[in-house]
Amino acid sequence: MVTIVVGGHFGDEGKGKVISYLALKDKPDIIARAGVGPNAGHTVFKGGRKYGLRMIPCGFINEDSRLLIGAGVLVDPERFLKEVEITGTGDRIAIDERCAIIEKRHKEEDATNEFLKKRVGTTGSGCGPANAERAHRTIRLAREIPQLREYLTDVPLEVNSAIDEGKDVLIEASQGFWLSLFYGTYPYVTSKDTSAGMAAVDIGVGPTRIDDVVVIYKSYTTRVGEGPLNTLITEENIRKYPLWQEILSEAKKKGFTGRGVNDILAHYLGERGTVTQRQRRIGSFDFELARYSAMVNGATQMGITCLDKIFPECYRVRDYDDLSERAKEYIGEIERKVGVNATLISTGPEPEDMIDLRQ
Ligand code: GTP
Ligand code: IMP
Ligand code: MG
Repeated sequence: MVTIVVGGHFGDEGKGKVISYLALKDKPDIIARAGVGPNAGHTVFKGGRKYGLRMIPCGFINEDSRLLIGAGVLVDPERFLKEVEITGTGDRIAIDERCAIIEKRHKEEDATNEFLKKRVGTTGSGCGPANAERAHRTIRLAREIPQLREYLTDVPLEVNSAIDEGKDVLIEASQGFWLSLFYGTYPYVTSKDTSAGMAAVDIGVGPTRIDDVVVIYKSYTTRVGEGPLNTLITEENIRKYPLWQEILSEAKKKGFTGRGVNDILAHYLGERGTVTQRQRRIGSFDFELARYSAMVNGATQMGITCLDKIFPECYRVRDYDDLSERAKEYIGEIERKVGVNATLISTGPEPEDMIDLRQ
């Protein structure tokens, strides 16, 4: 089986959490990281310890899985080596020798280019400038970096051989569909496409070999950096949303403050970027964008995370029948409007906090 996990909104949907669950539950032989590069920030818990990962596959928490980084992914050698050390995965991780390398000058350009910094709101990780240079064909590749030599491999060869042998492969995409360079809210997007098709390309797997595409959404829609968020919750429109009025009053009751409604909600929901620590904007679930991204991604299943953040009574629930009625209705509404079954419902940050409805 080959499964791709991909983000359906603006990134930070909690792919890290879903992948950590799948890694432990399904025990894939190979877990391969796709996506743009270290602009991604994934949060994973292992044994009560929290990891903020930008390069290493989140599935590392399964100690028996082979870990790979596909040729499409940009590699920041310093960051990669640091994460290999933090996670203790040096004996089972490899990167494709054709991965393009992020250098100091790429990060400097992100930091000084006014358009990227102010208008796009880049994460500053050098990905945009590096992908631009890759298109210019003047960038260095992983095989030219001595410190990476011991980690080099041919990812497509490894992955396709494993598929031929009937092994299981989990492909982790990064970012979210609406940050796609091709389909997203241009110019407020990242420097590459971010859909499931691109994730397959990143790893070197043909479209005919993919069995499942799991699109992940958070129970509400968030966005970090610049660009439109159509369902943004504001002082003016919160009256239209009884659920959000309730969440806001709960936040205030618990003593959360801020400069306006969205600020208070972001503090209460703990919505701060993993890479940049920037605060994320909070929106109600954007059904329209969710439906479109499910279509282009070819979603076969849907994962919904952070259900407990808006319905606290669902915290750590692992059985669908134990969800509150209002939470079940909420999930049902998303399924109807997006047109895909919710098979993985996350009710807490730890890998085990999951309702698994897969057949
Ligand atoms: P991707 O970028 O999509 O991988 O998501 P992420 O892992 O970067 O998401 P992010 O770091 O924004 O995750 C949000 C936070 O919520 C993290 O601290 C996660 O550990 C946590 N989280 C993920 N799923 C759940 C959930 O179902 N309930 C709760 N309470 N927290 C969750
Ligand atoms: P860049 O890819 O760092 O240049 O960032 C471009 C835009 O995409 C900015 O608005 C970022 O905030 C956003 N972005 C890039 N990667 C992520 C991610 O992993 N999660 C959320 N937003 C991201
Ligand atoms: Mg993230």
